[in-house]
Amino acid sequence: MAAYEYETHEYDVVVVGAGGSGLRATLGMAEQGLRTACVTKVFPTRSHTVAAQGGIAASLSNMGPDHWQWHLYDTIKGSDWLGDTDAMEYLARHAPKAVYELEHYGVPFSRTEEGKIYQRPFGGHTTEFGEGPPVQRTCAAADRTGHAILHTLYGQSLKNNAEFYIEYFAIDLIMSEDGVCQGVLCWKLDDGTMHVFSAKMTVLATGGYGRAYFSATSAHTCTGDGGGMAARAGMALQDMEFVQFHPTGIYGSGCLITEGARGEGGYLTNSEGERFMERYAPHYKDLASRDVVSRCMTMEIREGRGVGPDKDHIFLHLDHLPPETLAERLPGISESARIFAGVDLTKEPIPVLPTVHYNMGGIPTNYWAEVLNPSDDEPDRIQPGLMAVGEAGCASVHGANRLGSNSLIDLVVFGRAAAIRAGEVVDPNEATPEPNKASIDAALDRFDKVRYADGSLPTADLRLEMQRAMQADAAVFRTDKTLGEGVKKMDAVAAKLDDIKVTDRSLIWNSDLMETLELENLMPNALATIHGAEARKESRGAHAHEDYPDRDDVNWRKHSLARIDGNQVTLDYRPVHVDPLTAQEDGGIDVAKIAPKARVY
Ligand code: FUM
Repeated sequence: MAAYEYETHEYDVVVVGAGGSGLRATLGMAEQGLRTACVTKVFPTRSHTVAAQGGIAASLSNMGPDHWQWHLYDTIKGSDWLGDTDAMEYLARHAPKAVYELEHYGVPFSRTEEGKIYQRPFGGHTTEFGEGPPVQRTCAAADRTGHAILHTLYGQSLKNNAEFYIEYFAIDLIMSEDGVCQGVLCWKLDDGTMHVFSAKMTVLATGGYGRAYFSATSAHTCTGDGGGMAARAGMALQDMEFVQFHPTGIYGSGCLITEGARGEGGYLTNSEGERFMERYAPHYKDLASRDVVSRCMTMEIREGRGVGPDKDHIFLHLDHLPPETLAERLPGISESARIFAGVDLTKEPIPVLPTVHYNMGGIPTNYWAEVLNPSDDEPDRIQPGLMAVGEAGCASVHGANRLGSNSLIDLVVFGRAAAIRAGEVVDPNEATPEPNKASIDAALDRFDKVRYADGSLPTADLRLEMQRAMQADAAVFRTDKTLGEGVKKMDAVAAKLDDIKVTDRSLIWNSDLMETLELENLMPNALATIHGAEARKESRGAHAHEDYPDRDDVNWRKHSLARIDGNQVTLDYRPVHVDPLTAQEDGGIDVAKIAPKARVY
């Protein structure tokens, strides 16, 4: 192995990733005076949260009656009863406070006539425990909500003296001999130097792994780096079979058209000009939850009612709405539709298709963002020194299907929770432990092997093979046959990592090497997804299994856990937390209201 020198940086906390959850955690840590480093492979305001459009859910009641218990109910139902009830209650209860904090930090939310935060309807968000009309719960900054949040949180973090290490690529976690996470080894992309971030608490905020698929709304940087590092450190990935397809990716490019478009009155039609969602979801129609709408669109296409020359997509209409409303509420997608679909949405419909958008699964955590490393007799065992937040983590508040606008609120509620918890468990006066040299050497060794990989397969070719297999076989609808084939294909693809070829051996701005390291991160995420999906013999949320069309709560209301050793995937399960945090007599929800039942919209 080539000799690598490294510089060591000591902090109380190191946060890996600077999207919404990473920045909210960083800010909360720094506000408490913890010495906090945030390392990120892209400039903070280029993190994928910048692409979040429609808004952030919180029961503020600015546009009509709402209640945190209704939000909780909707989230439980949206999750198809796979989410952890304690975590979902934590989310719904703390959402209003977390949004008002954002407002006070300076997020420029859109406003009502009275000057309150503007809120729009989003799919699956309702009143009266799913019995009333849709609620306007999604707080929005036009259709650039993520952009607004990201810029505000970055500015506030700087103001609070958080230290940023920008364009540093995290290679691997540093683990002590006795299994405590001690920080992370990073490669500085612009000068090739190596850096050990030694910390009492490491927070993975690395986002999702949408780029395991061929067509995704996710940025090319969404390569599951946290999941890859956690898997290599022997930790489990949870509920990875649940992959969300957003109903309205632009046909062809996959670029996101926000659900806020339907929230503002947009609707879908098939080749017969029919508003087909009225047939499938008579009550909430185009505002049913995402998994439901994506399935209905796919059924329309399969049954020959798709639009376009190949009848392979659907139309989203906004052309009936006043141009002033579109300009005020949806300026971003007006631009996206023009650039990526060549459409003036004030005059014509946008061609759309369900597109991979979000990973419900991730690194298991409790609602304080502490990573869980379950054992047989301790399903909630805490992994010392490690937290995970945002799409990288799995608290689990989204279960089998996430409601739109529950992602941004997840980022800030659990980024904030991580900071609160770190304030309790991290002692700033304690010395930072000496990082384990053997663990650093192992990480450098892996890096060096990838750098000098001299097989026959270019990274881009193998990545494409993985993306095509995942797109074809872990799709909106799944069968035993497609999943069985998917497992075989993905096992073969993963084995080919041994034959990868990196052509550029340099250390400065080496995108070939970085993309190969990213592929090594995508692979365990993809393997866990396809194996978990193949094993789950039921339909639940985003996992629509045609051979097992019903939800099976007796056998399958449980979280899957995938451990990956090399390319070997071992599956296990842990119980869902079915009890709320607060008893009814203390102001909590009536448990009879959240008992599993058929999920209709
Ligand atoms: O449709 C959207 O604006 C996306 C929101 C989300 O995924 O939460």
